[in-house]
Amino acid sequence: MQEDLFKRLVAHCKEYGFVYPSSEVYDGLGGVYDYGPLGVELKNNIKSYWWNAMVKVHENIVGLDSAIFMHPLIWKASGHVDAFNDPLVDNKDSKKRFRADVLIETEIDKLRAKADKEVEKAAKRFGESFDEKLYRETNPRVSDYLQRAEAVEKRLAASLQSGDMADIKAIIEELEITEPDTGSKNWTDVRQFNLMFSTQMSNIAGEEGKLYLRPETAQGIFVNFLNVQKTTRQKIPFGIAQVGKAFRNEIVARQFIFRMREFEQMEMQYFVRPGTEMEWFQYWKEKRMAWHKAITPAEKLKFKDHDNLAHYANAAVDIQFEFPFGFKELEGIHSRTDFDLKSHSDLSGKKMTYYDPELEEHYIPYVVETSVGCDRMFLSVLSNALIEETVPDAQGEDAKRTVLKIHPALSPVKCAVLPIVRNKEELVGKAREIYDRLKLHFLCQYDEKDAIGRRYRRQDAIGTPYCVTIDFDTIEDDTVTIRERDSMRQERIPVSEVVRIVRERTDMANLLG
Ligand code: GAP
Repeated sequence: MQEDLFKRLVAHCKEYGFVYPSSEVYDGLGGVYDYGPLGVELKNNIKSYWWNAMVKVHENIVGLDSAIFMHPLIWKASGHVDAFNDPLVDNKDSKKRFRADVLIETEIDKLRAKADKEVEKAAKRFGESFDEKLYRETNPRVSDYLQRAEAVEKRLAASLQSGDMADIKAIIEELEITEPDTGSKNWTDVRQFNLMFSTQMSNIAGEEGKLYLRPETAQGIFVNFLNVQKTTRQKIPFGIAQVGKAFRNEIVARQFIFRMREFEQMEMQYFVRPGTEMEWFQYWKEKRMAWHKAITPAEKLKFKDHDNLAHYANAAVDIQFEFPFGFKELEGIHSRTDFDLKSHSDLSGKKMTYYDPELEEHYIPYVVETSVGCDRMFLSVLSNALIEETVPDAQGEDAKRTVLKIHPALSPVKCAVLPIVRNKEELVGKAREIYDRLKLHFLCQYDEKDAIGRRYRRQDAIGTPYCVTIDFDTIEDDTVTIRERDSMRQERIPVSEVVRIVRERTDMANLLG
C-alpha cells in the first residue's frame, strides 16, 4: 500500500478545500464527507464528462433524475429487502465489527502476496534467464500459495451465493484469522446485515410507511422505463442515464471516500432485445474502459470478472483502478437480464413490455447496466494526479513543487490571472479587465498576493492548467505570458487570444472525440 501517498492525498483534499470530513465540529460522522469549493467543481466536471459521454454523444441515450424516495415495494421487487446483505461478524474481545468476506479476502491477498514475494526473490536469483510464468506454474511453494488462494476464493464465492453463513465462519476459523488490532480469534457467528437505511413516512404508520433511502439509482430508471420510452419514442436498443445519491449502511466505511454511507452513482441502463445482452455487455465493457483510459494511464486499470454474481445478474465485470491501497472496484458492468422489469411487472401488476416493430412482438427487454461511483472516480483522478516533483534549475523553496496533474478538462479552475506586481494600478486594472472577460467562459481565479513563483505553486497545487501573467509589456503591446502547469513552459500571446487558447486546451470535447 502506498500509505504515504494516501495520507498526503487526504491531507491535500482538506488543506485545499476538495473534501472535508462531515460534521467535523462534532468529531465527524463515519463514512460521510463534504465536498469543498474545489471539490464540488471537480466532481461536477467528472459528472459532466460522464453525462456528455453517455447522453450527449449517444442519440439513443436519454437522461433522468428520479426521486430518492420511492414506493417501498420497489425494494421488495428488486430483491434488496431480502438479499442486499453483507456478512457481518463481531470480535467478542475488541467489540469491533467486520465484514466477514473482507476479512477472508484480506487473507487471500496475503497468500497471493507471499507467492509474489517468492517470485521476486527467484527473479533476483536467476537474473535475465528467469521465466516468471514457468516458475509460477512449477515452483511447489508458489503454486501451493496460489492454489490455496484460489480454493478459498471459490469457497467464499459459493458460500456468499448460497447464503451459507456457517461456512463463512468455518473459513475464518480454518484460516485462523485474527482481529487486526488485537490478534483475538474470538469471533461471533457470521450473520447477514441488510445495507439499506430506512425512515418513516409521516402519514402511514407501521411497516407500510417504512421508506428506504435508495441503495442504487438504477431502480428509478427501471420503474420509469415505459414513461421514458413512450415520451421519447426511443426504439430498442436504447439507454437511460442518471446521476444521483445512493445510501448504504456499510458495516465498515473506511478508506476515505472509497467506501461511504452516502455517495453518488452515475448509472446507465441499456435496454436490449433478449438474447443480444452478451453482445451489448461486451460492447459496454470496452466502451467504458475507453472512457476511463482517456483520463487514466492504462496500467492503472484492469477488468475483474465477478466470482459472486449479484441476485439480478447473469454476467458481471468490474473495472478496477489501482488506488493507493491496491486494485479495487471503480465501476461495475452488469448484464441484469429481465430480472428487474419482470419483478416490478409481477409485483405491481402493470405490464412492462415493449412492442418491437421489427419483430412484431411484445417482450420484456433485457438490461445491460454500467454503474460508476462518482466519489471513487474523484479519488482515482486525485490519486493519479497528486505529484511531488523536483523543478529543474530551481533552488531553495522553489526546488520542489506539489502539482495536481488533472486532465485540463476536469480541472476545477481553468485559468489564473496574475498581475506581476500588485502596487501598480495600471497592471492591476488590466489584469482585472482580463479576468472579468475570462470569467464569463470558465472558472478563473484572480490572485495578486505574494511573489509570482508562490502564486504559480498555489495554482499547481489545485491543478490549474493555465496561468496568465500581466506585466509591463502587457501595457505596451497588449500581450501576456501564459504558463502551462505540467511543462511550466511559458509563451507570449496576444490578450485577444487568451479565451480561444484556454478554451481549446481545456475543452471537454477533447476527451469525447
Ligand atoms: N446498480 C448497480 C450497483 O449499484 P454496485 O457495484 O453495488 O452496483 C456500483 O455499485 C458502483 O457504485 C461501484 O462500482 C462503486 O464505484 C460505487 N459504490 C458502491 N458502493 C459504494 C460506497 N459505499 N461508497 C462509494 N462508492 C460506492
